[in-house]
Amino acid sequence: MPDRIRLFVALDPPATLVASLSEVLAEVRPLAPDEKWSQVEKLHLTLAFLGHLSTELLEPIRQALAGVVAHREAFSIHVGGAGTFGRGARARVLWLGVDGGEALLALQAEVAAALRPIGYAEERPFKAHLTLARARRPRGSPALEKARDALAALDLGSFSARKLVLYRSELSPRGAHYTALATFPLGG
Ligand code: 2AM
Repeated sequence: MPDRIRLFVALDPPATLVASLSEVLAEVRPLAPDEKWSQVEKLHLTLAFLGHLSTELLEPIRQALAGVVAHREAFSIHVGGAGTFGRGARARVLWLGVDGGEALLALQAEVAAALRPIGYAEERPFKAHLTLARARRPRGSPALEKARDALAALDLGSFSARKLVLYRSELSPRGAHYTALATFPLGG
């Protein structure tokens, strides 16, 4: 393993939800065929993206996450609707909506607080989402807005969030490769 690795902490949507989403996206992708679509099998609900950190920090990170899950229970997350991120009028990122209520916000805030002393540096407020596609051009994509409108009424139901996963991300010209380094069941 190199000295520094790219890390993030996420919740995984279940395979049943991924399968339903896959069917829906087969219909919607043709609305924005030229944009960069995520591979649905790789979708994660990221709670904290840590970036490149020294592997010496893996053990403190493990301990911090174990401390967080020890006093938190599994909770329900609803997935549906869609939106876009982007400056000005144009959509640059198309995302699927995620609502885990207070339980998700509190869990994310606690993960962030526990990891901040170890290197988590995100300043932007947390916005739970699953990224479905990115615009190829920096000024954004009207096609992604069409795809968003097509997904606005989508309801994929709820799933039970039962564990945090610490992921390693490796980037290559063939795309990102994610490896689960450790899992932390909610409720200890
Ligand atoms: P995103 O796809 O919505 O950007 C691994 O890259 C995971 O970390 C993805 O789920 C990604 O979410 C998230 N992430 C959050 N901030 C990131 C950043 N600055 N760079 C790369 N990925 C980030």
